[in-house]
Amino acid sequence: MDSVRHFLSVTDLAPSELREVIARGRALKAGERSQALAGKSIAILFEKPSLRTKLSFEIGITRLGGHAIYFSPDEVGLGTREPVQDVARVMSRMADAAIIRTFAHEVLEEFASAATIPVVNALTDAEHPCQALADLQTIEESKGALEGARVAFIGDGNNVAVSLALGMASTGGHLTIASPPGYELPGKTASDAGRLNAKSGGSLRLITDPVEAVRDADIVYTDVWTSMGQEAESQARLAAFKGYQVNPALLDKAPDGVRFMHDLPAHPGEEISEGLLTDPRSIAFDQAENRLHAQAGLLHFLFSGA
Ligand code: NVA
Repeated sequence: MDSVRHFLSVTDLAPSELREVIARGRALKAGERSQALAGKSIAILFEKPSLRTKLSFEIGITRLGGHAIYFSPDEVGLGTREPVQDVARVMSRMADAAIIRTFAHEVLEEFASAATIPVVNALTDAEHPCQALADLQTIEESKGALEGARVAFIGDGNNVAVSLALGMASTGGHLTIASPPGYELPGKTASDAGRLNAKSGGSLRLITDPVEAVRDADIVYTDVWTSMGQEAESQARLAAFKGYQVNPALLDKAPDGVRFMHDLPAHPGEEISEGLLTDPRSIAFDQAENRLHAQAGLLHFLFSGA
């Protein structure tokens, strides 16, 4: 019997599978129809707020013929009202997949260890792989190919940066991350990305200078300086990230034709200047829309195997 497939990290998909998912996402966006989830019920359990992830999963599941049941933060009490593994066991008896947003990545791994249905990571403190699917789709649409695409990520080496680094390394892109000291990409991610890049022909560069990072970039990407759950650190982070704002002046230092991405929500005045999301160079709302298509591609893959 095939063991159940989870999507806890970008690396849970082989590079060829990642490409398949993105290709399916693009086909679905172009109008292809799929009923891959006909008769399926999918549980969505979030312990942090969400706009895009809830919206895109619920709509995507409906379009694929399935049905979503959403549990908001505090409703279930994952690991407090009921042990994590028992929640996974109960969901596995009724639902056909579970989509989980939580804090510690280990909680998600514990959930998956007891689940007999596919478990999808809808963001943890460590990774945001569904965002990476949409990011890769957006980069491919913008640039025409993932191989050789040059992306500069400015800011925190956080969950979004980790998943982006693993996704680009799987598909042959060149990523430069400019972070202040102490906020770099985790060392384990850098070494995992290094192994993937050795096969894909991609590269990863970790530096501190945002101007140097954007110099040859096709796309400049940033995320918030203070992620969900880090609110107590926000004053220290505001100080540490001073000088790392993405604004028109920084984009002007990139080659002509540069595009700007942000996974949203944004904090204008902090990591971006006011109005940057609607700058003609911004593709942040295409990127947001691609959450719907890329995740539908993932669900199609998990349920129909192609
Ligand atoms: N890094 C951000 C991403 C939000 C979608 C956070 O974790 O809050």
